[in-house]
Amino acid sequence: KFETPHVFVVFGASGDLAKKKIFPTLWWLFRDHLLPNNTMFVGYARSNMTIEQLRASFEKNCKVRDEEKSLFEEFIKKCSYIQGQYDKAAGFVALKTFIDEFQKVSNNQPVNRLYYLAVPPSVFEAISTQLAANNKDNGDSWTRLIIEKPFGYDLDSSTKLSKHLSSLFKEDQIYRIDHYLGKEMVQNLMVLRFGNRILGPSWNRDNIASVMISFKEDFGTMGRGGYFDKSGIIRDVMQNHLMQILTLVAMEKPASLKAEDIRDEKVKVLKAIRPIELKDIVVGQYVANPEMNDTDAKLGYLDDEGVPKDSVTPTYALGVFNVHNERWEGVPFFLRCGKALNERKAEVRIQFKEVNGDIYPPGDLKRSELVMRVQPNEAVYMKIMTKKPGMGFGVEETELDLTYNNRYKDVRLPDAYERLLLEVFMGSQINFVRTDELEYAWKIITPILKELEEKKVKPVQYKFGSRGPTEADELMKKHGFVFTG
Ligand code: BG6
Repeated sequence: KFETPHVFVVFGASGDLAKKKIFPTLWWLFRDHLLPNNTMFVGYARSNMTIEQLRASFEKNCKVRDEEKSLFEEFIKKCSYIQGQYDKAAGFVALKTFIDEFQKVSNNQPVNRLYYLAVPPSVFEAISTQLAANNKDNGDSWTRLIIEKPFGYDLDSSTKLSKHLSSLFKEDQIYRIDHYLGKEMVQNLMVLRFGNRILGPSWNRDNIASVMISFKEDFGTMGRGGYFDKSGIIRDVMQNHLMQILTLVAMEKPASLKAEDIRDEKVKVLKAIRPIELKDIVVGQYVANPEMNDTDAKLGYLDDEGVPKDSVTPTYALGVFNVHNERWEGVPFFLRCGKALNERKAEVRIQFKEVNGDIYPPGDLKRSELVMRVQPNEAVYMKIMTKKPGMGFGVEETELDLTYNNRYKDVRLPDAYERLLLEVFMGSQINFVRTDELEYAWKIITPILKELEEKKVKPVQYKFGSRGPTEADELMKKHGFVFTG
């Protein structure tokens, strides 16, 4: 009996993403027996490479344990390499021959195809055109295309790319990765909201004072500055990862758990957000911090090779957004992201309003908060008021704490890519960005990007390793955020 054959092709096989993430992820899925048994992996790139060289490029990232060595050899036996150009048919014809052969040895069963574009966006169009011409299925199996940001540079370029893709592939074949959607805590958001009567009814403007979604990294651009300078933190993190989380926090309950029902609701949220203005944003750029005992901190963003000395590209941004609908009108959504800050942390923080008719001494009660810590050290915790334990009657703030490391000691949380690639095999598009979602996210972000860029707005300087510009805290306070400490 032959199981359905699948082929997973990685374009850009010699690149960083392929060797750091994609091949290791495929290995982990293979190792854990999560993939269809009859699956072949193909690396495709322009350089001349042997399969040994391909293997050598990613093996050290696979963290193969001693007892897994023979299984790893089996994985390698399933890997092939095809050398070819991205804009010429020859390599794609070779790929077709490979797939046809695979079909033959699989008892002539049609091959399902997964194509991963781990390449710079400049070749997205070329590859997808060649794939559509040479490597689609014949209707008796399926073809899925996986792509990674950047999906364009602004609304126009993104629309152009989307139109191109839509002319060649159907929406249910296009899997746009936003790897934040593969993180445990981001996937947990819907369950928390829609699975708990205790949270659902208070999830609105009557009870919630603000929503903060933040992304902090404690390292700078580290030599990637030349690349980063063309995008900046707003395109790199806010337009995609943070905006996606926002939609999950703000959306109405979908009609079902089907991908289209969920994505419909997310799109409605995006449609209800208006573009922001300069007064709603603080942008920053990090400078060296000679006092820190860290060699990276000795370099500011402008010292990174490849970054123009007069660059005004933000490495930090805080934007205040509003969702103009009945549930959220007036509730600020703070999207905050930055590099070279004091810590690496991503979280969603829901700050609730003060209680009505407070009977405690003024100032004693603090606002309750619900925090979903995406990374590191996944947790859901709630800051609440409680009676100070003991003889007294005073109140104090404490935490209801669900730290995953404590509660789920034996559960390994898979990497975002493991989950997402598996979902592509399974055909679930819940955690992938639909064309209209992308379009509306760009509609929100493009005007402010244009304004910042046209006016060459100078970012506020902040020190490597600091909390970021104090102007950002001020803007949040102005919109009613209370730093509870
Ligand atoms: C990427 C950004 O999308 O996400 C990077 O391009 C950023 O700049 C990275 O460092 C962060 O991902 P993670 O999973 O390490 O938080």
